[in-house]
This record gives sequence, structure tokens and C-alpha cells, in this order.
Amino acid sequence: MIPASKTRYWFGPAPELLLQWLSRQAYSKCFILTDDNTSQHCLPVLLQGWPADRPLHEIKVYAGEQNKTLQAAEYIWQQLTLKGADRHALLINLGGGMICDLGGFAAATYKRGIAFLHLPTTLLAQADAAYGGKLAIDFMNYKNHIGVFGFPVAVISDRQFLKTLPADQVRSGFAEIIKHALLDGKKALLHLSEIQHLQEVDWSPFIARSVKAKLKVTEADPFERHDRKVLNFGHTIGHAIEGLLLHRKANPLHGLCVAAGMIAELYLSHHCCGLKEKTFIQAVSLLRRHFPDPLISEADFAEVLGFLRQDKKNREGEVRFVLLRKAGKAVLDVTVTEEQILEALDFLVSPPDPQPKPVT
Ligand SMILES: NC(=O)c1ccc[n+]([C@@H]2O[C@H](COP(=O)([O-])OP(=O)(O)OC[C@H]3O[C@@H](n4cnc5c(N)ncnc54)[C@H](O)[C@@H]3O)[C@@H](O)[C@H]2O)c1
Repeated sequence: MIPASKTRYWFGPAPELLLQWLSRQAYSKCFILTDDNTSQHCLPVLLQGWPADRPLHEIKVYAGEQNKTLQAAEYIWQQLTLKGADRHALLINLGGGMICDLGGFAAATYKRGIAFLHLPTTLLAQADAAYGGKLAIDFMNYKNHIGVFGFPVAVISDRQFLKTLPADQVRSGFAEIIKHALLDGKKALLHLSEIQHLQEVDWSPFIARSVKAKLKVTEADPFERHDRKVLNFGHTIGHAIEGLLLHRKANPLHGLCVAAGMIAELYLSHHCCGLKEKTFIQAVSLLRRHFPDPLISEADFAEVLGFLRQDKKNREGEVRFVLLRKAGKAVLDVTVTEEQILEALDFLVSPPDPQPKPVT
């Protein structure tokens, strides 16, 4: 398995960059993992003019988070075996965060680990999921419950793939970009507050900033012993909501759940961690403008608490949050009372103040 620091990162045309990489390597066979959508929209882009003497053997799985499962991993292991993948094979993951997580996990465990490479095709994966080496599948509807750390040989990020991305998926990716901005500082947050229409944005600078911020944290603490935990901001409650929606087969979009999680965790940050009211209001208004649907209602609170009890950061039965003391300053392992969690969920589902305080 290659160490984090050996991963190569490229931004640019995927067909050319991938071919250049493959021509310098001696993989025994190359496989490409796709889902229904990336097989249809992204694979033809990659294969236009692709040389016949460099075959890429496709392995296709069903799209969507509900398929980030052990069954899908098993299918990939089976296909690799039937198609003759040895330990010198390469698996290329062509897709969003679900494909990067699932394909990375399948590759990192097949024959004790074969090389894999990410070609992220969603805004969320280009700004976040393809970087940092967390690989996993969901299990019993608990998010990323079974997984490993493992690092791709390379990540090739090509904006071209984003052209076919549906609007909701763009919004989903924007949530992780907001998270990185909140962890970065006030200036980054202000910059995002100016965005009105997501479909008109040139995402390149935002992706670059998110990737830089994420790599700074993950390269310093690749196995999440300490500081890397900051990246879980919004994900404690966000993953609980996502788990609940997965359980209900409601096809949740990861970023939308994280946005809801961030609204609730900003409330906790303000009330339990000293996050100033001005930043709190500014961040919540930005999130509510783009993510008005809280995804849950009061009737779901007990089940959300049940999912929170399975969070991976918990210790001795206590839920541990990453909260913000200010924009750019996260606090790790914060415990709060169940009553405070319920208040935060209540804040999430309550209609916003019809006359919010002016944000300056
Ligand atoms: N490993 C990490 O560090 C990390 C970080 C954040 C999120 N994640 C994981 O990432 C996943 C969410 O990522 P995602 O939102 O990219 O999910 P996804 O891979 O499910 O993609 C979302 C949808 O977009 C479709 N799609 C992908 N590319 C497309 C394209 N170019 N054109 C048209 N359709 C396209 C997919 O088929 C899918 O239906 C979650 O499983 C989450 O847990 C992992």
C-alpha cells in the first residue's frame, strides 16, 4: 500500500493525464469501476481516442449511496477475480465519492491490496472525497462503518466531467466546500456568501482551495489520530441523518445531510463553544439559503439520537462533536448533553426567523 505522501495529484484533461501515467507504469491489467451514470456520461469522455492496445476492463455497479455496500464490494472482488486481476493490477475509480470510497475499499482489500487511482466526477469528490485516503462501505445503514485508510497512486481531477452533473449533485458538493470554508476562516466564508446561483459558478478556484485545505490537514494526520478530526464538522449529526434516510431507503445525498448537520452543529458551536452570534447567523443564513430543507422532522429526533450513538468518534458511549469556536478554529471531542442535541435538532427543523438580523 502506498503512503499518503506518494499520491500524485493532477488537475487537467483526464484522458491525456491517465495515458501518460499508464505509459510510465507496468500494471498487469487495468480495470475501471463505474456506476450507471458515470458509465454513461464519463466513460465515453475518457475513452474518446483511447488506444486499443491499452484496454480498460469495466466493472459497473449500481449508482447511489444505497449501493455503497458489502454486496457491491463483493461483486467487485468477484469481477476482479473472474477477469484475472493479480496483485499488479490497477483499479481506476471513475465516479463520485461513493465510487471512490467503494472502489478504494475493494482495491485496498483485494489480495491484501492492489493499486488504485481516483478519477473523481462529482463536485463533492473533486473538492473532497477523492482526497485523504478514507475508504469505506456503509454497513447496517451506518455510514462508513467498515473501512480502511489507503491511498491512491494518483488523483486526476478533470472539470470536464462536471458538465453532466445534475443540479442537486452540485448543491451536494457545495456543502463540503462550505465546510472547508468554515474550517478555513471568515474570509473564505464571506467569499462563499456572495454566491447566488450555483449553476453559474466556475468551481475551479473553490475546488483548488478545498483540496489544499483538506490535504494540509490529512497529510499532517493521515490516520485521524488527532487534528484530522476537524474535517468531521457537520458530519456527526449529518451522518446520523444520512443513516436514518438510508434506513428508510430515501436515497439521501451526502452533502445535503452534511448541510443539515452543519446547521445543527453551528447551533451547538454557538451555545456550547462560544461561536460568536454574527458568524453563527452568517453561516446559518448561507446554509439555509442553499439548503432550506432540514430533511427530518421532530418525529425523527429519537431515531437520529439512535444513529448518533453509533458514530465512529464516540468514546465510552459518549457522542463526541467537532465544534467551532470561531470560523477557522475548531474544537475537538466536545461532549454535550442529550438535551442540547435535541435543542440543536429543534433549531434545524424550525422555520427560520422571518426577519433575520442583518448580516454585515
Ligand atoms: N472518503 C472521504 O474522505 C469522503 C469525503 C466526503 C464524502 N465521502 C463519501 O462520498 C459519497 C458522496 O459522494 P458523491 O456525492 O460524489 O456521491 P456519488 O458517487 O453517489 O455521486 C452522486 C451521483 O452523481 C452521479 N454522477 C457522478 N458523476 C457524474 C457525472 N459526471 N455526471 C452525471 N452524474 C454523475 C452518480 O452516479 C450518483 O448518482 C458518500 O458516500 C460520502 O460518504 C467520502
